[in-house]
Amino acid sequence: MPTEALSTAEGLVRAPLLHKGKVRELYDLGEHLLIVVTDRISAFDYVLDPAVPDKGRVLNGLSSFWFSLTGEIQPNHVVHTDAEKLGDLVAEPGKLAGRIMVAKKAKRIDIECVVRGYITGGGWRQYQQGGEVNGIRLPDGLRKNGKLEQPIFTPAGKNDIGHDEDIPFGEMARRVGLPLAEALRDKSLHLYEYGRRACERKGIILADCKFEFGLIDDEIILIDELFTPDSSRFWARENYALDVEIDSMDKEPVRSYLSGSDWDKNSPPPRLPDAVVQATTERYRDIYRRLTEGGEA
Ligand SMILES: Nc1ncnc2c1ncn2[C@@H]1O[C@H](COP(=O)(O)OP(=O)(O)OP(=O)(O)O)[C@@H](O)[C@H]1O
Ligand SMILES: [Mg+2]
Repeated sequence: MPTEALSTAEGLVRAPLLHKGKVRELYDLGEHLLIVVTDRISAFDYVLDPAVPDKGRVLNGLSSFWFSLTGEIQPNHVVHTDAEKLGDLVAEPGKLAGRIMVAKKAKRIDIECVVRGYITGGGWRQYQQGGEVNGIRLPDGLRKNGKLEQPIFTPAGKNDIGHDEDIPFGEMARRVGLPLAEALRDKSLHLYEYGRRACERKGIILADCKFEFGLIDDEIILIDELFTPDSSRFWARENYALDVEIDSMDKEPVRSYLSGSDWDKNSPPPRLPDAVVQATTERYRDIYRRLTEGGEA
């Protein structure tokens, strides 16, 4: 497996760059989008140096794996993932192999559709403050990382500047209309249930996850990425415990390195040592292997 990290595809792609996120780059192919998943890694909202070899392939490979499995229950944006098919659009297809997705352009719905099956992270913080998550009242006495009786839908408004804001379902309905809000909620809960069961068979707990949808000719299409460590919280079953901070399956080496350093999280972060980068690459490869082993989920 190639191990050289790709920190950007700019200069390799002969198409206009539409958007550069912390991890991904979107190029305009006219009718389609070219999504390149680089090896950049972020933590605490900073992009770190250096990039992590194979991370982009793992993220793109997982999205592609899940999009093809769920395609029958929910149409998605994938056209193909073959860098060779890009022809003259790319200078060195080998460097992009495994890390691209050509996708149908959709009119994005500006809502992050979050489903939580467990109470942790931002959901846990909300619950501690007022016993509710996005306006959903939960029973008293829940413990951090506890499994919820029913998965809950906790949307966030997509915000291009700054952070996404948690909103109650009613606010989502005001923004996009009740019928669309209900359809997105039902689709999200259904997809979560699919992902949860599939992960469970591989010894992984899908604690929560985020979906994005768009419209193409009034049809609701699943876009962006699907069940990747960047959009989902995966816990290895063997690490599951209540009341603690559970190791993240992907970025734990980076997080523990940064927490152990004297970095103040308000200035450019320190460079990651080689050993931390290598350990992180191994983490990503492991998640990929665990989730995709045996083909169908
Ligand atoms: N098929 C599609 N049609 C239209 N927009 C899409 C499609 N697929 C993904 N997108 C959008 O492309 C963008 C991808 O950006 P990306 O997630 O890489 O960065 P970001 O969300 O802006 O920031 P961050 O780096 O913090 O994640 C998202 O805004 C997503 O909604
Ligand atoms: Mg994003």
